Amino acid sequence: MTQPVLQQATGPQFTRIYAIGAARGDLVVDNDQLVGPIDSSDEWIRQRTGVIERRRASADVQAVDLATTASLEAIERSGISADRIGVVIVATVSNTMQTPSMAALLAERVGANPAAAFDISAACAGYAYGIAQADAFIRAGLAEFVLVVGAEKLSNYAKPTDRSISFLLADGAGAALVGPSETPGISRSTWGSDGSKWDAVGMDATFDEYRNGEGSVDWPTLRQSGQTVFRWAVWDMAKVAKQALDAAGVRADQLAAFIPHQANMRIIDEFAKQLKLPEQVVIARDIETTGNTSSASIPLATHALLTEHPELSGGLALQIGFGAGLVYAAQVVVLP
Ligand SMILES: CC(C)(COP(=O)(O)OP(=O)(O)OC[C@H]1O[C@@H](n2cnc3c(N)ncnc32)[C@H](O)[C@@H]1OP(=O)(O)O)[C@@H](O)C(=O)NCCC(=O)NCCS
Repeated sequence: MTQPVLQQATGPQFTRIYAIGAARGDLVVDNDQLVGPIDSSDEWIRQRTGVIERRRASADVQAVDLATTASLEAIERSGISADRIGVVIVATVSNTMQTPSMAALLAERVGANPAAAFDISAACAGYAYGIAQADAFIRAGLAEFVLVVGAEKLSNYAKPTDRSISFLLADGAGAALVGPSETPGISRSTWGSDGSKWDAVGMDATFDEYRNGEGSVDWPTLRQSGQTVFRWAVWDMAKVAKQALDAAGVRADQLAAFIPHQANMRIIDEFAKQLKLPEQVVIARDIETTGNTSSASIPLATHALLTEHPELSGGLALQIGFGAGLVYAAQVVVLP
């Protein structure tokens, strides 16, 4: 008996982002509310990070709630019916449970059940990792539409006495609906990792240590070696951003917008300098009033830019995510 040749699917040649949705934590937390336990000041935080205030969610609001709001907005704006979504990807490092995934619950909540659904752990690069996957899945014929969501409630993992990162952390979710396109709308992604710096940013204890009551672990929270991450971001990530432009065949002066992960305003300014971004390129500075929402920061910043500058729609944006792992991903997208 001859063995049959397996049938293979192929998809459309190109993809694009159809629409973006956003949800920020309902509470506005200014610097003065946090500086006491870390012996800091409003002035220090503004000067060193650019953050004036950050958005956090009330106790009864979870990351999946923010993800639902953001996703429903993206789906509605796209004009696509939720039952055409074949995959739901949630990038998160702050789900309330190790398992089951946030994505499966989100798919059910937004009407995308029985879409394939899974979470990815790529920290602040998670959304850009998700966009890379959505693009590849659609072109491979695995799904017609993919919902990519970054959703975090980082305040659950912020220790009020931590001086290294707690004052940056915020809560929010951003969602993108990705689908087929007649023309290229998402460039080849440049992505990778550097596990030699695995310790630079992440949790301060394992769940085993927490369970065994080792040390003074009252609950694992986030911490970082700020200067290590800062240097890596400024030097290595600026190179990755340039590689992403080359991979897309786009020059910096052809961009409409630059949307880096919102980690620190000084990092954003340094990127702009190294990429020699001309003045007309609009730079996302959502960190000022939102804070660092990890995987949600790029779609939240994109949503804010498009609200403030609707004329950017249809223009090219370079986006780059980078964070714990260390991991990174960048691509050029056509703004919806
Ligand atoms: C965290 C960060 C803002 C710290 O800023 P920094 O300029 O590197 O600060 P340093 O650690 O060099 O400390 C400089 C001084 O500020 C003090 N300091 C540190 N943290 C402080 C705080 N939260 N409040 C007030 N003072 C602080 C230090 O004690 C030090 O004082 P000294 O000069 O008297 O010794 C910065 O390193 C950063 O943003 N890193 C990368 C962040 C990032 O991208 N993280 C997310 C990964 S996705």
